[in-house]
Amino acid sequence: MKKWYAVIGDPIAHSLSPFMHDLWFEEHGIDATYIPIHVQPFELENAFHSMKALGVSGFNITLPHKQSIIPFLDKLDETAVIMNAVNTVTYNGRQYIGWNTDGDGFVRSLSAQPITRNEKVLVIGAGGAARGIAFALKRADFTDVTITNRTHRRAVELANDCGSSALTLKEAEAALSDFSIIIQTTSVGLAKDEALPISLERVSTGSLVADIIYNPLETPFLKAAKEKNCTILNGVGMFVYQGAIAFEKWTGIQPDTEKMIQIITEKLG
Ligand code: ATR
Repeated sequence: MKKWYAVIGDPIAHSLSPFMHDLWFEEHGIDATYIPIHVQPFELENAFHSMKALGVSGFNITLPHKQSIIPFLDKLDETAVIMNAVNTVTYNGRQYIGWNTDGDGFVRSLSAQPITRNEKVLVIGAGGAARGIAFALKRADFTDVTITNRTHRRAVELANDCGSSALTLKEAEAALSDFSIIIQTTSVGLAKDEALPISLERVSTGSLVADIIYNPLETPFLKAAKEKNCTILNGVGMFVYQGAIAFEKWTGIQPDTEKMIQIITEKLG
């Protein structure tokens, strides 16, 4: 029987996940489809029970339900506990299990670049996204990770939780040339004309500067980094790899990520 998967969110029309997963199902000859479902917050519980009753094989969760889905699930993987947010649900025939593939998705995208794990990494931000990435960097054996954030207390908390260190924004700006990998995880850059989350004045030429935002493809932060002759990495890779990890959990198959990054980049360009 045809299997079905879904993504639930509000709004949902813009999501590229159905396009991506359907293409991977087709490529691998899997008889399945992936449906975007618009679910408003007050409908979440009903929507979850309906999906269960209709035999969903797995689903993704996007804003604003990443936390509010948690009480309905049977079990959380450590990745979801760390972020206190779920973006992927698997079903093993008995239990609906919540995962968060965003952090590992980012680190896979980063690892596809010519870098080594002992380079000095600066993570800008201390929210949910930064938390997932900081822990995923640790899991992937990056040895030298520093967190900086507008609200310093949150940077210190995250650094303590994941065994890294924290700097104030001013300290990080002054020491920026020490870092060869800089990761921007805040929402700054989604809206036009926002100030940069940190000045790139002292960044070293040739550093790798990443932003988790993928729409726009080039945030003001990445534009500034390019002007400083840095290598830039946008959030398309993270988006594709977080989906690939979910796809692997659902099907046991590793889909083609490089081609998908190209296709999605062209779509957004
Ligand atoms: P997410 O789960 O998407 O990471 P979040 O938990 O609300 O969202 O975290 C947002 C992050 O973006 C935080 O690090 C936040 O900094 P504060 O802890 O100081 O709030 C950061 N952020 C949001 N707007 C910002 C801005 N205008 N300048 C700098 N940092 C900003």
